[in-house]
Amino acid sequence: MKGILLAGGAGTRLYPATLATSKQLLPIAAKPMIFYPLSVLMLAGIRDVLIISSPSELPRFQRLFKDGSHLGLNMTYAEQPEPKGIAEALLIGAEHIRDESVTLALGDNVFHGHHFSDTLQDAARDVQGCVLFGYPVPDPERYGVGETDGTGKLISIEEKPQAPRSNRAITGLYMYDSEVLDIAKNVRPSARGELEITDVNHHYVQRGKARLVDLGRGFAWLDTGTPEALMQAGLYVQTMEERQGVRIACLEEVALRMGFIDLEQCHRLGRENAGSAYGQYLLSLVPA
Ligand code: DAU
Repeated sequence: MKGILLAGGAGTRLYPATLATSKQLLPIAAKPMIFYPLSVLMLAGIRDVLIISSPSELPRFQRLFKDGSHLGLNMTYAEQPEPKGIAEALLIGAEHIRDESVTLALGDNVFHGHHFSDTLQDAARDVQGCVLFGYPVPDPERYGVGETDGTGKLISIEEKPQAPRSNRAITGLYMYDSEVLDIAKNVRPSARGELEITDVNHHYVQRGKARLVDLGRGFAWLDTGTPEALMQAGLYVQTMEERQGVRIACLEEVALRMGFIDLEQCHRLGRENAGSAYGQYLLSLVPA
């Protein structure tokens, strides 16, 4: 399975923090935001990741991850000239996806919960149609909203509906089978001129081929859209990390646990960053 991380957009609601940099590079606790969704792709077992961003911001992501080989990944990059919709990422990534299944993750979505890697790997193992991830929210009208038949099969999906049919927000993590390119190619721009991901998903729903994995209670899907939400996300991560003594979305640790890198490489990365608490944490993962 291939991975795509979409990290464009203007980040307007976070001005002036996003005046000179990308929203997805702002820190949540000690890490750039994009570490969190990248860790999700890695936990799903994905090693081929295409990062898509605006022409001005893309070089920053290239500087951050290079070719990804230090994490046992294969990272490539592509430009989205203008934010013309989330579904456009699939078209931009056509060469990358080819005839494989793909997981598309939004670069500003933060997930954290028990056994999430098992959930992801189960879902990724055999994607028939599409697999979406739902989360109960008090304000579903702000999101894509899904309704299921009770067995997890999606029977309706709507983008920011005025009268939501459920409280299940569709999160920014989408798994598709190899038919997704044909579907995305036929999506027409919406009233706001964007290729909506909800239209791609709607296509699968109509054919009875869309499944919703309920992330449910006890799970955290964090908002990063406003300065307040960003601060709260940082506090959440910091609190969890301090109490549990482990780091969330530490890419080197995920790479180690997934078998993408070995202990020697983890130690090397720790030594290179030994001046930071992050580097010290990496060193602590390697038995003396
Ligand atoms: O976060 C989950 C929600 O994401 C879903 O529930 C909605 O169904 C989905 O449409 C999307 O809603 P948003 O209102 O959050 O979409 P937004 O336009 O803000 O874009 C989400 C992220 O994707 C944002 O960080 C910017 C980036 N983006 C967006 C567009 C439209 C791009 O990189 N390129 C784009 O063309």
